[in-house]
Amino acid sequence: MSDYDNRILNDADRIQAFARAIRRQVSTQDVVVDLGTGLGTYAMLAAQAGAKRSIGIEFDSIINVARQIALQNNLDVEFIRGDALDVELSERATLLIFEDFSSGLLDGPAPPLLAAARKQLVAPSCRILPQGAELEIAPVASQRAHDMAFPNRADDYTCYGLNFQPLQYITQNSVHHIRSPEDLALLADPVVVLRHSFEEDLPQKWAADVTFELAAEQTLAGVCLWHNLVVDEQNRYSNAPGEAAIGGQYFFAIPEVWDVKPGQRLRCEVAFQRISVDGFWRWNLQLFEHQSETACRTSTGNTFAASPITSAAMNAFYQDEVISLTSRAKLEALVLSAADGNKSIREIHEILQEHAPEMHEDSLEFVLGVLENRRLATAVVN
Ligand SMILES: C[S@@+](CC[C@H](N)C(=O)[O-])C[C@H]1O[C@@H](n2cnc3c(N)ncnc32)[C@H](O)[C@@H]1O
Repeated sequence: MSDYDNRILNDADRIQAFARAIRRQVSTQDVVVDLGTGLGTYAMLAAQAGAKRSIGIEFDSIINVARQIALQNNLDVEFIRGDALDVELSERATLLIFEDFSSGLLDGPAPPLLAAARKQLVAPSCRILPQGAELEIAPVASQRAHDMAFPNRADDYTCYGLNFQPLQYITQNSVHHIRSPEDLALLADPVVVLRHSFEEDLPQKWAADVTFELAAEQTLAGVCLWHNLVVDEQNRYSNAPGEAAIGGQYFFAIPEVWDVKPGQRLRCEVAFQRISVDGFWRWNLQLFEHQSETACRTSTGNTFAASPITSAAMNAFYQDEVISLTSRAKLEALVLSAADGNKSIREIHEILQEHAPEMHEDSLEFVLGVLENRRLATAVVN
């Protein structure tokens, strides 16, 4: 048995929450499908609870062990080895069990797999376990998590006679995965930023904007995000830091930790977007002094910026975004909007001078440059 399967088996809180929910939910009419059955635990519990049929689907060879365990326990489970999306069932599921989510819930292969399974494997009124999920976030202190996220000092990327500085950019723009390091402390009560019912597909695009009041003098390392499963109305399972959960937390890390004080506020904007199979995260953390409207510290990250990606995917990502222009681009846009076909170059130049008096004598050259580069003004060429 692999380490992974042992860890899964030893995650007692999770298995007990599902076991209780399965006993509550399964009836003798049910065709239960355990999607990604692994050791077959939930499929066996469903058979034990009296399901009409219990089916476990799994593409890994662990399914052979699941078969033996079912045999050993004298339980009638149909195990199907293969990709769940290639499986055709003679009878569709009335109860689907699925729980292979990433810590960030929204990304990874689970959301599209669940969406496809809903189309291919389930009867119209099928129930799903878990019934829903939440995403929670909280600011955290943790030297260990920070050391893991930033193993090199910002000014220390030279080794083996080479300079690896661009790696720092990737590090800063990555979401780090942690599992409740012992020194991790929450700096404010966690806030639920998403409540989702699996009666619907998980969102392709999502954003949250939360402000935390900081209560203690501490060293802020970043923000953690994790999911909780609402297995059914009475049973929940959480990946919160400190819980003995197999899943961990996402850690949006600040490159240089911040010393924070009671009375300060931390604004956390976190956003997610899926483009075909890839999910991308963005985050923006701002620290405010008591009553101040201006942030005293800011830290941002964007996994999209750190990913090698095609320009088609980049277009898809940015088409809904409000873009911020560089100051030079703003002046170019001003010249281009002034060049409406009814104004002389002198008039366009005057408009530019009004908006950018600091340009002085360079401004006429700038106007001519913009018009010429875009090949917009036939009068200039002629
Ligand atoms: C979190 S584990 C589930 C473990 C299982 N519930 C248990 O308690 O042993 C997720 C499982 O889903 C399987 N899986 C993921 N995607 C699959 C797919 N498309 N088709 C079949 N199995 C899949 C993985 O191989 C893995 O064993």
